[in-house]
Amino acid sequence: MAKFSLLSKSYFIFFLLSLSFIASFSCLHEQQEALLEFKDLLLGDMTRDNSTDLFLGGLETWNSSSECCLWSMVQCNSSSSSQEVTGLSLSGLFPLFQTQKDSTVLAPIFRIKTLMLLDISYNSIQGGIPGTGLSNLTELVHLDMRENSFNGSIPPQLFHLRNLEFLDLSVNMIDGSLPSGVGNLKNLRQLNLDNNFIYGEIPEEIGNLTELRILTIPNNQISGRIPFSMLELRKLEVLDLHNNTISMEIPAGIGNLVNITTLDLSKNNLSGEIPSSIQNLGKLETLHLENNMLSGQIPTWLFDLKQMKMLNLGGNRLTWNNSIKINPKCKLSYLSLRSCSVKGQIPVWLSNQTDLIFLDLSENQIEGNFPVWLARKSLGTIILSDNNLTGSLPPQLFQSRNLSILVLSRNNFSGKLPEINTTSIMVMMLSENNFSGPIPKSISKIYRLLLLDLSKNSFSGSEFPAFGEESLLASVDISSNKLSGKVPAAFGKNTIMLSLSQNDFSGPLPENFSNLSLLEHLDLHDNNITGEFPTFFSQLSSLQVLNLRNNSIKGSIPDDLSSLSSLRILDLSNNNLKGEIPQSFGNLTGMIDTPDLSLTLSGLFNFPVEIHDLIVNWKNSKRGLSSRNLDIYTFLDLSKNKFSGQIPPSLGNLKSLKLLNFSYNGLSGNIPLSLGDLQNLETLDLSHNNLDGEIPDTFANLQQLNTLDLSNNKLVGKIPESPQMDRLIDPKIYANNSGLCGVQIQVSCGDDLKPPDHQKERQEKLFSWVATGIGYPVGFLSSTAVMYVIGYFNMTPLNRRRRRTNRG
Ligand SMILES: *[C@@H]1O[C@H](CO)[C@@H](O)[C@H](O)[C@H]1NC(C)=O
Ligand SMILES: *[C@@H]1O[C@H](CO)[C@@H](O)[C@H](O)[C@H]1NC(C)=O
Ligand SMILES: *[C@@H]1O[C@H](CO)[C@@H](O)[C@H](O)[C@H]1NC(C)=O
Ligand SMILES: *[C@@H]1O[C@H](CO)[C@@H](O)[C@H](O)[C@H]1NC(C)=O
Ligand SMILES: *[C@@H]1O[C@H](CO)[C@@H](O)[C@H](O)[C@H]1NC(C)=O
Ligand SMILES: *[C@@H]1O[C@H](CO)[C@@H](O)[C@H](O)[C@H]1NC(C)=O
Ligand SMILES: *[C@@H]1O[C@H](CO)[C@@H](O)[C@H](O)[C@H]1NC(C)=O
Ligand SMILES: *[C@@H]1O[C@H](CO)[C@@H](O)[C@H](O)[C@H]1NC(C)=O
Ligand SMILES: *[C@@H]1O[C@H](CO)[C@@H](O)[C@H](O)[C@H]1NC(C)=O
Ligand SMILES: *[C@@H]1O[C@H](CO)[C@@H](O)[C@H](O)[C@H]1NC(C)=O
Ligand SMILES: *[C@@H]1O[C@H](CO)[C@@H](O)[C@H](O)[C@H]1NC(C)=O
Ligand SMILES: *[C@@H]1O[C@H](CO)[C@@H](O)[C@H](O)[C@H]1NC(C)=O
Repeated sequence: MAKFSLLSKSYFIFFLLSLSFIASFSCLHEQQEALLEFKDLLLGDMTRDNSTDLFLGGLETWNSSSECCLWSMVQCNSSSSSQEVTGLSLSGLFPLFQTQKDSTVLAPIFRIKTLMLLDISYNSIQGGIPGTGLSNLTELVHLDMRENSFNGSIPPQLFHLRNLEFLDLSVNMIDGSLPSGVGNLKNLRQLNLDNNFIYGEIPEEIGNLTELRILTIPNNQISGRIPFSMLELRKLEVLDLHNNTISMEIPAGIGNLVNITTLDLSKNNLSGEIPSSIQNLGKLETLHLENNMLSGQIPTWLFDLKQMKMLNLGGNRLTWNNSIKINPKCKLSYLSLRSCSVKGQIPVWLSNQTDLIFLDLSENQIEGNFPVWLARKSLGTIILSDNNLTGSLPPQLFQSRNLSILVLSRNNFSGKLPEINTTSIMVMMLSENNFSGPIPKSISKIYRLLLLDLSKNSFSGSEFPAFGEESLLASVDISSNKLSGKVPAAFGKNTIMLSLSQNDFSGPLPENFSNLSLLEHLDLHDNNITGEFPTFFSQLSSLQVLNLRNNSIKGSIPDDLSSLSSLRILDLSNNNLKGEIPQSFGNLTGMIDTPDLSLTLSGLFNFPVEIHDLIVNWKNSKRGLSSRNLDIYTFLDLSKNKFSGQIPPSLGNLKSLKLLNFSYNGLSGNIPLSLGDLQNLETLDLSHNNLDGEIPDTFANLQQLNTLDLSNNKLVGKIPESPQMDRLIDPKIYANNSGLCGVQIQVSCGDDLKPPDHQKERQEKLFSWVATGIGYPVGFLSSTAVMYVIGYFNMTPLNRRRRRTNRG
């Protein structure tokens, strides 16, 4: 074989022809060499000689003693006499070698000019798209580069590959605009650009791609209008532009796309009505128009499109006239009329929709009972939240074999929950209804259950169902009910969020909590929990939020609680805790740094549902913090206990703290200077203690501070001045001390007499500040509006496309 390299190409071909039994396996020597070079580059240090016993995903078959056309992942043109390599299917290969590879490893491949198919998808290759190299591959018909980390813009050379029929650049980090050069790819049948950062308008030249069947550019930053030339692409079957910022009315010309089966324009800025030309689209199976600004009545002819299977119109300004009787000609599997002003009962015509799997009628004004026919239908997903449904749930609902997601929150349902005889439910959200009676024991037999939200109902009973250790349940919210008895602790080891707050649980904190090693969020506030502050909390190393407010826990805080390096919110207020505030609290890493948010609750579930609102005391009132925004809060509230001793100066380390509340304790000594280091502090309450000495000058550094209470202490001296401190002028916050003075309370400090006009000037300034509120930071709460967005769920049987957020 080594002799081959000495032969010229023409001799080589002659040689092959004369030895036809070899010829049928042979590939061009230089192509074989290029592939071996590529393998070497890829393997790096791993030798190629003894790699046969290693799993290399097929690369182990690439060796110099066999013909490359026999190698795995390599395709040759068998009808050609010269045995050229025409295809390389290298999908998902590189991850076997752990490290990310730069796009330069592809260089040898660009010497194989006969390539017609190149698939390097799912390889986490980084760097720019190698335009020069790819421009060598003029025969390319199929180029698949999806799911890598290519960045930069699309190189113009790519548009010179005139034979290209398939181009997939999805799920990369490509930016820049889609250049008009794309119009050169006259043979293109499929173009996928999903999940990149491509911006600007779609060029008019897109209309030159007359062979185009599939065009997908979702999850980018495409803006402007859909070019009219695109509406002439009569062979188009799939058009997916969802999650961009296209703003226009849906053009009537859309009706030209008679071959279209999938049209997804959801999550853009589309306005106007649904054009009647959509009636022409007789092959339409999937129509996603949700989350735009469309208006007008939903046309009933949509249901006469025979092929229609998936229809999502939610989150627009559309309305549905529920009094019209329709007899749909389509067989829907997926329907969302979320927020479409549906009034009256759940439409009965749905009962004839035998293929229905997904139904979302949330955020409407639907009344009446949960219909038995719907319970019997065996749907996969039922979302009826935010309506005015009443009555109890039909037992048939919990006998379904297919129900995966059930969301009935914020209705007026009542009565007991029926016995549960289904194992399929993954998400059950029944929050804010009027359900009563005990929580059925059978709920713990739903082995697929991941998320359970029964909060804000009237469930009672003292025996909570026990979940096995192997249970998949990750999030449990049974807060705001009338549950009593011992604090339940029989939850699986996968538990991440546990809210048992606002019930009547009593007795000590159960030792079993220490088994929940993944627990991030434990909320037990407003119960009647007694006993000593347990030592096991320090074992819950994932804990981020611990709320024990308003209970009767006694004892002191163990030093090693500070080993909880993720703890960001600690609320122990209104208990019977005593002793000193541990010096070690200065080591609470989660309150020092911006936390690592890799594993937050909302990230766990790949759908936009509010999971649990944490209630905290904030500016003298209770506020619900959205779990989705919880990441940004850092609170330490030890108020209303019997803590004594000094405030540890080490607390000045907790740089990300937004709230520090030590009020109503027996703390004494001076306020540490270091508290002035808490640059993010917005609320500081040290009132009702025995603190003495002066207010440290360092308070002038607290530029975010907008709520302060130092009243009812023994503080003396001058209140520090700073632009921020000078706005905190309510006398109540300094009241009942032992001699405070300063401009804030208009008490002059005797030893520090200022010229009268200066004093006057200062006060005038003060009032003008108050009047205009210039520079006064708005509390972060109001700037992060608590949102509730419910869309479709990715967990449904109707698999939606993978998103950037859940890339591995
Ligand atoms: C290849 O074999 C040599 C010697 O037998 C050994 O040291 C080396 O680790 C092997 N390489 C791989 C990748 O297995
Ligand atoms: C080369 O690969 C072939 C299979 O493609 C295998 O039969 C042969 O043993 C390999 N040779 C070496 C030296 O690894
Ligand atoms: C194989 O090669 C021959 C001759 O070069 C060419 O005509 C034919 O189109 C090729 N077939 C494929 C499938 O690439
Ligand atoms: C293009 O192909 C030629 C000839 O095989 C090769 O020398 C060159 O390096 C290739 N260009 C790139 C950018 O890979
Ligand atoms: C390509 O598109 C542009 C803009 O729509 C048009 O002016 C041009 O004539 C088209 N070229 C061809 C060859 O179709
Ligand atoms: C929408 O696209 C943006 C990028 O433009 C992305 O960050 C975001 O996650 C996408 N939203 C959804 C719901 O996929
Ligand atoms: C629709 O697609 C079919 C099959 O690809 C094709 O024959 C037909 O010409 C297309 N219709 C139009 C109007 O282009
Ligand atoms: C269901 O379909 C049958 C036959 O098409 C029809 O007679 C009946 O009225 C439909 N029921 C509803 C509630 O639409
Ligand atoms: C819900 O229904 C009840 C009685 O069925 C009615 O009193 C109430 O006003 C309704 N609420 C809304 C928001 O429509
Ligand atoms: C539970 O469901 C199974 C199968 O669906 C059925 O055989 C059984 O009778 C049901 N049990 C109860 C108590 O309804
Ligand atoms: C707490 O429990 C004690 C003793 O069981 C009881 O006396 C008290 O009323 C309970 N407090 C509340 C608020 O439920
Ligand atoms: C804080 O942590 C450091 C290093 O981990 C340690 O040396 C120090 O003693 C700790 N401080 C307290 C008060 O626990």
